[in-house]
Amino acid sequence: MKHFTSVADVPDVPTLIAAAAAAKANPYQDENLGRHKTLGLFFFNASLRTRLSTQKAAENLGMKVMVVNLNQEGWALEFQDGVVMDGNKPEHIREAAAVIGQYCDIIGVRSFPELKSREADYAETVLNGFRQWSGKPILSLESATRHPLQSLADALTIEELWKQHPDYGKRQPKVVLTWAPHPRALPQCVPNSFAEWMGHPSAGLDLTIVQPEGYELADEFSSGAKVSYDQDVALEGADFVYAKNWSSYHQYGQALKLDRDWMITTAKMSITNSGKLMHCLPTRRNVELADEVLDGSASVVIQQAGNRVPAAQAILKQLLLAR
Ligand code: CP
Repeated sequence: MKHFTSVADVPDVPTLIAAAAAAKANPYQDENLGRHKTLGLFFFNASLRTRLSTQKAAENLGMKVMVVNLNQEGWALEFQDGVVMDGNKPEHIREAAAVIGQYCDIIGVRSFPELKSREADYAETVLNGFRQWSGKPILSLESATRHPLQSLADALTIEELWKQHPDYGKRQPKVVLTWAPHPRALPQCVPNSFAEWMGHPSAGLDLTIVQPEGYELADEFSSGAKVSYDQDVALEGADFVYAKNWSSYHQYGQALKLDRDWMITTAKMSITNSGKLMHCLPTRRNVELADEVLDGSASVVIQQAGNRVPAAQAILKQLLLAR
């Protein structure tokens, strides 16, 4: 695996999930693999989980880690070619990425969409700029359209829990990705990625995406799922409920309505098959998820966040081995 920016970069998803499980069971099994190698983590946006889990994963592999909040600490970068740079962006991605490539063996980048232009965001200008000009493996720490590190942790979490279920081996788990309300317009990255990974032929699960009219994801992500507009119907028999807000793809970047009725509550969870509640975090309490659910026994959000470490470790190991 030369880069990790989407599920398409992964040669074999079940093998990668197994590698993440192995890293969780024995975090120091490859503690010398990253010796004398440097991971650079470059953030254009805030992060708690991705930053800490990826740093910890790299350290478990013996890597050195440099973390830079590029939007606050670096020069503002120009990504367009042929621009007369007489404005407020003093450095071009061509030089910046090439220089970073001199210092780092693997480069992680977090860059959210601006949610103004679908074409600009879905072109992945920032991630692809680093990929094109650094000459080094690129690790997506959440880009404009995807969050694959989160999705691998989600896949590991589902596998761990499903293996303990009495129906394991008898049927596929029912997984429901449900839109949930939020006061701000949020990116489509997490649901895109979750749908892409869970709808992958190797996933072996029954995926439904449920959302209010107008919040349909792009077909390229949702094609492996059933699509519903009735949350109560979709939640029937669910083994896993993945709640997340996202803004409209078709009316790009807009929060069309708040729809507080879509918040996940105990009453909603009672429709499921004793389903587990998942969320990537951070979440808005009593907007997306009710306190009673988040603090209850159905919630696996902390296990999910913990699984970010072995997920990142499995990816970093593959990127190191491919060098
Ligand atoms: N889930 C996730 O990526 O969390 P952070 O934004 O805190 O990294």
